[in-house]
Amino acid sequence: MTKTRILTGITTTGTPHLGNYVGAIRPAVEASRDAQTDAFFFLADYHALIKCDDPARIERSRLEIAATWLAAGLDPERVTFYRQSDIPQIPELTWLLTCVTAKGLMNRAHAYKASVDANLAQNEDPDAGITMGLYSYPILMAADILMFNAHKVPVGRDQIQHIEMARDVAARFNHLFGKGREFFVLPEALVEEQVATLPGLDGRKMSKSYDNTIPLFEGGAKKLKEAISQIVTDSTAPGEPKDPDSNALATLFQAFSDAEDTVTYRAALSAGLSWGEAKQRLFARIDGQLAPMRERYEALIAKPAEIEEVLQTGAAKARAVAAPLLEELREAVGLRSFNRVAQTVAGDDKTAPAASKPPLFKQYREADGQFHFKLLDADGRLLLQSPGYASPREAGQRVAALKADAANASLLPGEQLGEGVELTAVHAALARFSED
Ligand code: TRP
Repeated sequence: MTKTRILTGITTTGTPHLGNYVGAIRPAVEASRDAQTDAFFFLADYHALIKCDDPARIERSRLEIAATWLAAGLDPERVTFYRQSDIPQIPELTWLLTCVTAKGLMNRAHAYKASVDANLAQNEDPDAGITMGLYSYPILMAADILMFNAHKVPVGRDQIQHIEMARDVAARFNHLFGKGREFFVLPEALVEEQVATLPGLDGRKMSKSYDNTIPLFEGGAKKLKEAISQIVTDSTAPGEPKDPDSNALATLFQAFSDAEDTVTYRAALSAGLSWGEAKQRLFARIDGQLAPMRERYEALIAKPAEIEEVLQTGAAKARAVAAPLLEELREAVGLRSFNRVAQTVAGDDKTAPAASKPPLFKQYREADGQFHFKLLDADGRLLLQSPGYASPREAGQRVAALKADAANASLLPGEQLGEGVELTAVHAALARFSED
């Protein structure tokens, strides 16, 4: 049974707040534990450049968001966890997609339209302050998703349009260059209806743009307590019955509680619990769940080099998926090695691109009794030649090691690339062996 691939990213411009945790991080970590899913989670740091030109803030946010995912229980062994900017194939795919995306489609994007409307409302030039980054943002997001052929993309409601655009662009690319082959899976948005949109201090949706957030880990228990004390309530006196729905308290409590405890909390408010006591109980409830994670978070933040290592390992896994697909896409649009042009012109290339056929390892014995292997591409072109080994087992072990390290394999002494072959072609071929 093939697994469902889910993929989602978080833009690295801010410090995670409770709303990010309950609405995105917690459900994503839970989903990643399902044996039927293959999860890709990443830090959308190229997206951050669209909104933010403060390098220090971007750097800090990347670190905080990475540490938050890990502290929240993400298992980087199970999940492919990486930074977008460590995957050069993503911006390269962005360009291939940009060249098949209708400008009219981008004109309709909400984020861009909202900026135009804001300009018009202020009698400004409609394009004032709008960068090409903002305008083309849905294409970068499409590349994030299509590069890994994700089936499902967990997002908030505001992002549904972008997933639809990704489907459009994918279908267009498939149609133009696929020759009957579907390079890209058409992704679907996964909007969890039962996941609460958390209210902020003022009762509106918790959001950085409303300045009403409660930080998740930053500032520790003290800051959490302080923020909770600032939740807006009315002047109903202690002892008087209170409407549990008149402010954010009960909804916040519910996001960290089972149904039974929620009922008890609401009943206590109706029975006259003071706002101060209600806030104290809310704090105790949330802090009880966050404290162990906060401890992990602080330990991680103190050791950025460890986070870096986790992300580098994740990036290598991600590139091992991205590189071979991009290689095929380059071929499909006509960016192929000149070594193959002669064959294409001479042969009849109306069928699927050659790269869609698998490469091949050949093991054999030479007259001197030594065991060798070759890696050949689908057309029989020599990619890699081994030296001689004393036993077939040793040769086989080296073949297995190459397959296992597809994205990063480097040559051992005595190994030689075929004529005109670059190591990246070997990597792309090796990656084919690890496809499902
Ligand atoms: N644009 C998304 C947001 O602002 C973040 C994001 C970037 C994303 N690339 C993605 C989400 C790919 C899902 C898939 O929330």
